Amino acid sequence: MPKITINGRNVEFQPGQTILQAANAQQITIPQYCYHNGLSIAASCRICLVEIWAPNPKTGQLEPFMGGKLMPSCQQTASDGMVVYSDSPKAVANQKAVMEYLLINHPLDCPVCDQSGECFLQDYSYEYGRGVSRFQEQKVKNPKKDVGPNVLLYADRCIMCTRCVRFTREVTGTSELTVTGRGNKEEIDVFPGIPLDNPLASNVIDLCPVGALLDKDFLFAQRVWFLRETPGIDPLTASGDNITIHHNEGKVYRIKPRFNGAINKWWITDEVRYGWKFVHADNRLRSPTRRQFGTVVECDYHLAYQEVLAAAKHATDEGKRLALLVSPMLTCEEAWLLAKLALAIDPSATLGVGPVPFHGEDKVYPPGASENDPKAFFVCSEKAPNARGVRRVLAAAGGKAPLEFDAFVGALAGAGAVVLTGNYPSQWSTPGLVAALRGRFVAIVDTLSSDLTDAADVVIPGATFAEKAGTFENRSGVLQAFAQAIPVIELAKAEGQIALDLMSMLEGRPDRDENYRVIMVESTRGQVAAGAQTATPRAEAFDAGAVRARMAGVSGLEMFASKVSLPSEAAAARTDMPIVSL
Ligand code: SF4
Ligand code: FES
Repeated sequence: MPKITINGRNVEFQPGQTILQAANAQQITIPQYCYHNGLSIAASCRICLVEIWAPNPKTGQLEPFMGGKLMPSCQQTASDGMVVYSDSPKAVANQKAVMEYLLINHPLDCPVCDQSGECFLQDYSYEYGRGVSRFQEQKVKNPKKDVGPNVLLYADRCIMCTRCVRFTREVTGTSELTVTGRGNKEEIDVFPGIPLDNPLASNVIDLCPVGALLDKDFLFAQRVWFLRETPGIDPLTASGDNITIHHNEGKVYRIKPRFNGAINKWWITDEVRYGWKFVHADNRLRSPTRRQFGTVVECDYHLAYQEVLAAAKHATDEGKRLALLVSPMLTCEEAWLLAKLALAIDPSATLGVGPVPFHGEDKVYPPGASENDPKAFFVCSEKAPNARGVRRVLAAAGGKAPLEFDAFVGALAGAGAVVLTGNYPSQWSTPGLVAALRGRFVAIVDTLSSDLTDAADVVIPGATFAEKAGTFENRSGVLQAFAQAIPVIELAKAEGQIALDLMSMLEGRPDRDENYRVIMVESTRGQVAAGAQTATPRAEAFDAGAVRARMAGVSGLEMFASKVSLPSEAAAARTDMPIVSL
């Protein structure tokens, strides 16, 4: 493999790579603003200029490359034997000059800027800039602009890297953003009457290395240094996009893309970015309820579980079936535990997969690209993250393919008790389902109140994607695990925990001691309900990794041993640029 030397370190590179790409691959820090792996090379910010020496092809002696001019490392292709310096006096003088020019008109409003703490102008000014400004004149002041439904432009913070402009030209193909003016009057702007409004628009917020493009939804919501980052998987569509959930003190504040070269590259849709609001919705279910003399009353878990198990037993005693509908919004582990529970109660239980919503059409970006293009980004019309995983697990548990939703509704005629799971971000019942449930015992595990929860005999509050760990299988059959970001809300529980609780009760494990004191389950990171007044049977605590290990021993589910990609700590890192250590 050809080699170059960067700041005294030998670096191997792939033919065709630029010096900056070779450096980035080896975590050698060369400052960079306008360069981004997913965009064309503009080489406009000039912070990445390096001094290069290259062997003379005739003599083999090292000579200053291009007569000793500093070269943009983001644009200059590496060639074997080059000796590159980003830390030579000449290169460092350029970095200081670029930083001084960029800061001439940049407002000093870091204390009120949302980007503060994750701003590369801020970081680089410490690392590569001067300690003081020599500029005595008035700074150019540009207006703030509302450029789209989700994005605000603070034009005077812009450093004209043009990443945002290139994104709308090269990735979305919508070209809403452009550069107007010249010199110190140069500005990013939208065309009159054409807002920045496309399905991927808010990726420009992540691309902007400074606080010029800001997220309206996150505006002044939280200082970024308070946020903790947990790797997640797109919980709304079958694309399996890798995300990072940013949260603090049990509240989600924003979702950002996490790089995965095989799936979502650097991007996510605005649908995924802003689709998490139901996690904190007012109509979240927060406590178990049961129907008593026709009225819905809150109850403890003990009573709710007792009622579910009694109704299921009554149904099977009468020769009727227990029917279980597993939502495609649930994880593989939860589907497995719920199916095992249903089959333990009724070995002939009817297993079905919840409705899989579709909206719009599948799309590939850039428009016209093929799905296999290394930089293509796929937008999925299937609006459930785990239909394939749920089908796979139910088939292995039940020994045959589960019923699809319509067939399941049709099969309810033979059911005496029905357990439904939801966890959709909005209403999901259908008139056919509501009609088929009439006259039967219905227990529902869901996250949001709905006409179904209003009509059910027992309601158990479930946990959203942010409140539990698990595995989703995406549209291409890729199994990806994710971690729990925040504790479950109030008395809700992960569906996997609910299944384990019920199994424990079914097996007759005591949930109260001889003095009628509740025996609490051991809590793991908020996977179980808080509150001593709530009876929780002595069940095993839900642990997605342990359930996966058990599933892997079952015929048809061996892939859960080796094919599940686990998010690494490094994957949670927030940036597409090297982090400067100060
Ligand atoms: S708004 Fe941000 S991304 Fe766009 S050119 Fe300015 S600094 Fe770069
Ligand atoms: S000129 Fe190379 S990163 Fe901007």
